[in-house]
Amino acid sequence: LFALAVWALRGPTRAESAAAVIADFTLNDMLGKPWSLGSAKDHKAVVILFLGTECPINNAYGPRLVELHERYAAKGVEFVAINSNPQDSAEDVKRHATTHKLPFRVLKDAEQAVLPLFGAERTPEAFLLDPSRTVRYRGRIDDQFGIDFKRPKPTREDLATAIDDLLEGKPISVARTDAPGCLITRKPKASAEATVTYSKHVAPLLQKHCQECHRAGQIGPMALMEYDDVVAWSDMIREVVTKKRMPPWHADPKHGRFDNDRSLPETDRATLLRWIEQGCAKGDAKELPPPVQFAEGWRIGTPDHVVLTPKPYTVPAKAPRWGIPYIYWIVETKFEEDRWVQAVEAKPGNRAVVHHILVYVRGGEQAKRERGDGIGDGLLVAYAPGDLPSVFPPGMAKKIPKGSSIVFQMHYTPNGVEQADQSALGLVFAKEPPRHEMRTRAVAQTRFSIPPGEAAHRVVSSSTFSKDSTLLSLFPHMHLRGKSFEYKLHYPDGKSEVLLSVPKYNFDWQNNYRFARPVELPKGSRLECTAYFDNSTGNPNNPDPAKTVRWGEQTWDEMMIGFVDYYIRGD
Ligand code: HEC
Repeated sequence: LFALAVWALRGPTRAESAAAVIADFTLNDMLGKPWSLGSAKDHKAVVILFLGTECPINNAYGPRLVELHERYAAKGVEFVAINSNPQDSAEDVKRHATTHKLPFRVLKDAEQAVLPLFGAERTPEAFLLDPSRTVRYRGRIDDQFGIDFKRPKPTREDLATAIDDLLEGKPISVARTDAPGCLITRKPKASAEATVTYSKHVAPLLQKHCQECHRAGQIGPMALMEYDDVVAWSDMIREVVTKKRMPPWHADPKHGRFDNDRSLPETDRATLLRWIEQGCAKGDAKELPPPVQFAEGWRIGTPDHVVLTPKPYTVPAKAPRWGIPYIYWIVETKFEEDRWVQAVEAKPGNRAVVHHILVYVRGGEQAKRERGDGIGDGLLVAYAPGDLPSVFPPGMAKKIPKGSSIVFQMHYTPNGVEQADQSALGLVFAKEPPRHEMRTRAVAQTRFSIPPGEAAHRVVSSSTFSKDSTLLSLFPHMHLRGKSFEYKLHYPDGKSEVLLSVPKYNFDWQNNYRFARPVELPKGSRLECTAYFDNSTGNPNNPDPAKTVRWGEQTWDEMMIGFVDYYIRGD
């Protein structure tokens, strides 16, 4: 009666109203052993998890699935995973289960025969079945991880709550949620009239816009190098390209032109979408472009000097509540004279877990030098996913004063499996003293206080150039509450111009924006940066919406820095 009353108040939730009963099926697990749904009839409940092996959200949930299994196996709940992804072989499934230490069976649904029984859409997606094989809950595991966010902890544990409800014989409070991970592509059928083919049109486009990151050993979670893999990811490619999530690029195209602009030209987007719409035709292999030869190792060529972080750092499988604090390494250069650096690169040892690296030069004459706003000065180079190393134009170089130390600031993001990292800095010295010294100024504001709950808190910084200068690149830096960032130049004659606008700042992508044509400014010009911060509960990345937030080094504090690379024309 109570259940009925609750049901009447709430109305039927989606899955409860159309509760599907899953027909029995048999699939082989990762050890080649068959398993049937019917064999689980003695359990109080069965959790079926649709999993992949490469999807970032899927993998972020690895440790959580282990915990849930631990919590509920003893209470008579059976956990079984199914992999229906065409791109994941039985071998891949086995390797993934081992590296993620999954304590339950993973079945390979090679023919996608079981997928339609559930109608699963994404990985990870959970189905909770009662002993009559009726689906009682379907959807996400909880709300901790999603597209563009990682909460410090879940605010709702949907799957666990549904299991508790079922075990206690209560109606399921929320029986249906949307799973946020990667789409499971149904094997497509190419139309006979397809005009766009992989070989002729799509392969060159992927080479140009995607493979820099989506190949083995790079930051993209999967390789987009072969026809079969690209087809298997095609539903997801349609989604990310339509929503302009990929390739990652965050500058508003209305302002500034940048030579590292990664955004996909409209014509290429249309080609890619038409190919998927027409069923992913392969075309004639003779029309395939030759593979791109990507430079491996250092992108600046062989460095003249390498500075290694002193020892490997172990990155845990799972972040603590507030994320891993920044790790700092300080290494003495022991340079006995000033050195001019023509190219410099910060190279992660393990791209899977290095979120970003900022490398600073400290000491030597640096301390005595005139400072911009005093903070973040001495930035030598930054590494962030997909970013390019700094190679300065001929005749320009950065100075490392004698006796300086190199400071590495490392930010790690766990990916579900314990990892080790030892990162490095590579330097190519200028063959002769440069015509111009490359400088980095931090146009920063350290005095701010963002009230709790405030959704759009404005902070402004500004810096005047006392000499004729030329700007080469911009690099906005904020932390998890960063919402938007704009650079505006005020010329001495009163005119002004927006140089860069990042309307949706994303901490995951620390972009350096390199001007297609350097911006020349006369002395007396003032560069003004305006940042907005979101300290409300509406920002899922917010470490703590109840806190007043001030300047601080850690990601749960904030920063507001508009870095600028420039040189003084007369020096
Ligand atoms: C600068 C590097 C970079 C480039 C260029 C890039 N990607 Fe990605 N891509 C990534 C990273 C990193 C992720 C993982 C994002 C995450 O962890 O949330 C990703 C994720 C994806 C995903 C998985 C879905 C998701 O959101 O996690 C798809 C599909 C994808 N990219 C397609 C593409 C396509 C298609 C292109 C080219 C048109 C492209 N990417 C270009 C780095 C890149």
